[in-house]
Amino acid sequence: MKGAIVQCLGDLVKSNFGNDKWEQSLETAGMSKTTFFTPIQNVDDEKVMKIIESLCKVAKISPAQAADAFGEYWVNVYAPKVYNSYFKGTNSSKELLLKMDSIHDNVTKNIPNAHPPRFEYEWKGPQTMIIKYKSNRGLIDILMGLVKGVGKYYKEDLKVTKLSSDRLQVIFPN
Ligand code: HEM
Repeated sequence: MKGAIVQCLGDLVKSNFGNDKWEQSLETAGMSKTTFFTPIQNVDDEKVMKIIESLCKVAKISPAQAADAFGEYWVNVYAPKVYNSYFKGTNSSKELLLKMDSIHDNVTKNIPNAHPPRFEYEWKGPQTMIIKYKSNRGLIDILMGLVKGVGKYYKEDLKVTKLSSDRLQVIFPN
C-alpha cells in the first residue's frame, strides 16, 4: 500500500494521542520507532495491517473506531492538503463519492505496484446508492470510515450501512 496511507495514520496518531503512541505503535509492529514514510513509497500490506493492529492496542481503540478516525482524518485533513486538486469542483458527498473510482485509478496510474481499490455504483432510489467495493484487501470497514468522512467534509448527514464484505449502502439527505 502507498506510504501516503501510513503517513496519514502517523499524523493522526501523533496529533490525537501524542508522538510516543506512534513510536510505540511502530515498535509493537516490529519496526524502528523512527521509521519515516513518504507518500509514494510502497509499504507491504502486511506491515500496514500490523501497524493498524498495534495502534489499536496502544491507543486502546477498536478496529472500527480506528477505521472511523482514519476515514475522518484522511478526507478532512490529509487529502485536502496533499491531494487538493481532487476536491476542486465537487460540492457534495454524492459528487465526490462518484469521482472516487476514477480518482483511485488516476492517482495510482503512474505508480508501479499500486493496486488501488475500484468502485462501482448502483442506484436503489434517487438518494440511495450502493457502492460495490473491488479490492483484494478486504478493508470494507475502512471504506465505511472514509465514506462517513466524506459526509463530515460536506456537513451532510449520510446513513452508511454495510450490506456485505463488498457492498455499502449510502443514503444521502434530501
Ligand atoms: C482525494 C481523495 C483520495 C485520494 C487521493 C485517495 C488515494 C488513495 C491511495 C493512493 C490509496 C492507496 C492505494 C494503493 O496503495 O494501492 C488509497 C486507498 C484506499 N482508498 Fe482512497 N483516496 C481518496 C479518498 C478515498 C475515499 C473518499 C474513499 C471511500 C470512498 C477511499 C477508499 C479507499 C480504500 C478503501 C483504500 C484502501 C485500499 C484497498 O481497499 O484496497 N479513498 N486511496
